[in-house]
Amino acid sequence: MCGIVGYVGHGNAKEIIIDGLKKLEYRGYDSAGIAVVQDGKILLKKHVGGIANLENLIGDDPMTSSTGIGHTRWATHGAPSDINAHPHCNEAGNISVVHNGIIENYAELREMLERDHNVKFKSETDTEVIAHLVGINYEGDLEDAVYKTVGQMRGAYAISVIAASEPGKIVAVRKDAPLVVGLGKDAHFIASDIPALLKYVKEIYFIENNEFVVLTPESAKIYDEDRNEIHREVFHVTWDADAAEKEGYDHFMLKEIYEQPKALYETLTRRLDENGTIKLDGIKMTKEDIEGFTKIYIVACGTAYHAGLVGKYIIEKLAKVPVEIDVASEFRYRDPFIDDKTLFIAISQSGETLDTLAALREAKRKGARVLSVVNVVGSSVARESDDVFYTWAGPEIAVASTKAYTTQLMCMYLIGLHMGYEKGTITRDYYDKFIADLAEIPDLLKMCLGNKGYIEGLSKMLYNKEQVFFIGRGLDSAVSYEGSLKLKEISYINSFAIAAGELKHGTIALMEPGTLVLSLATQDFLYEKMLSNIEEVKARGAHVFSIAKEGNTSIESKSNEVIYIPACRDELTPLLSVVPLQMFAYYVAKERGCNIDKPKNLAKSVTVE
Ligand code: M6R
Repeated sequence: MCGIVGYVGHGNAKEIIIDGLKKLEYRGYDSAGIAVVQDGKILLKKHVGGIANLENLIGDDPMTSSTGIGHTRWATHGAPSDINAHPHCNEAGNISVVHNGIIENYAELREMLERDHNVKFKSETDTEVIAHLVGINYEGDLEDAVYKTVGQMRGAYAISVIAASEPGKIVAVRKDAPLVVGLGKDAHFIASDIPALLKYVKEIYFIENNEFVVLTPESAKIYDEDRNEIHREVFHVTWDADAAEKEGYDHFMLKEIYEQPKALYETLTRRLDENGTIKLDGIKMTKEDIEGFTKIYIVACGTAYHAGLVGKYIIEKLAKVPVEIDVASEFRYRDPFIDDKTLFIAISQSGETLDTLAALREAKRKGARVLSVVNVVGSSVARESDDVFYTWAGPEIAVASTKAYTTQLMCMYLIGLHMGYEKGTITRDYYDKFIADLAEIPDLLKMCLGNKGYIEGLSKMLYNKEQVFFIGRGLDSAVSYEGSLKLKEISYINSFAIAAGELKHGTIALMEPGTLVLSLATQDFLYEKMLSNIEEVKARGAHVFSIAKEGNTSIESKSNEVIYIPACRDELTPLLSVVPLQMFAYYVAKERGCNIDKPKNLAKSVTVE
């Protein structure tokens, strides 16, 4: 949540920071601001709303400085407003701070500052306490002041600070919120995420927890809590800025839906050797380790959790080991039974989701082996895991996750197949055939994208429904949850997913003439059962839009509309059936005039509890 960008060099800080903030708007977009050091003063501009509002506010104001920090906000403490927007300054106006995260003891710090230092707060944010503390601790050396201040703070944070009397310097620190440093020629950058910097640099330092950074145009130094300098390996970014552009699509979400065939192809083929065997590359998990696991937990949030629901089915089926699945915010507080025979699988696109990270740490503390499925290389989840199974989705910018989900599913199949083969619970023949079927998925998914026109038309007809139900059985039930989340997060329609067999235990009471039901009926062995469930809702007047496998045409007489996905083995249908659901959510949201890439109240990366 929240995006930070900072620059020190010889260029125009304002332009570089605004550029970077635009790439980070997916992290929060309720207000934005910038502060630069100019002529011995801090110049501050901030505004509620997106970066465009900030640009209008700045207008032609000459901000010629080459030292500055900027921020795009996702509100936690204090509503979105000009006053609550970052950066925040101390009362003297000679210190300015941007912050991502939450200061847990901010209330007591605020009380202390008001009582002992007579500070008059301007905003309702937790961040403002940092600005005042740095100001009070400042005796001419910004590093000293930031070290002292961090000693007084508790919580999760990435902060960047500038001082009016130290042009050409940024001091930053992180704990449980991401920060990267960009290494330029006579210029250094700091940001919450790499896309903000790609236009300018390809060489990066990842900053670890409790590390401090001091940037000047000439140097980028990293220090530990005791102020010992740390040597960090340079990371070379291999993808370019274009990967994070819309390339003619109306929205990032649509572009990312269309990128799924490529993302799936990459995620699969990068893990296969020339004999079609899954290669582990950096993963150190041995056959003995796999044979020793008595239990697996899959833990994640949101869409990644929904990928885990599919993972549970697949891994249990292929590797014959019990798999429990939980949302990270519950898992971390429920004292789950874990020992050194437990494999903990964390799934996270961003690798920065705080709940997932905390659950991972809890599992590790109790002795579990941690394997993560992550899209962002070098992210916190990746770095804190024993092994990482990367998805090759490329940067996902839209808040609503699409290609990250399908590539996470691909990893679930590969993990299940690898474990099953090593344990001997599946034969080589079964393994080879399964992989051959996976290899066909990118092309089959392209065929699903061909339904665009039909789905767009359907969305025009159904966009004004106020309530939608998603039903399915088995793997279809797992995909229903994802379809429902997609629809609600971008169209704000009250949508609800339920295992179809559960309807009669309560939810069917909500069926009325015209209620929209999206029914998934792609599992051959459950097809007849699903037809009965469809009959049940139809009998109460529901409008049924079904998704079925090609060839299962008997569903047509029971549904108002049907979309067919190409025939494939039952286990693989989630990779295809989710596509019409993603497109339906997209076109309904478009029809309703919603802000598709940046839905209200959400942010891409959830680094708060
Ligand atoms: O980065 P993560 O995969 O850990 O994010 C988890 C969820 O916050 C995320 O999937 C969220 O549910 C998406 N907005 C769904 O589209």
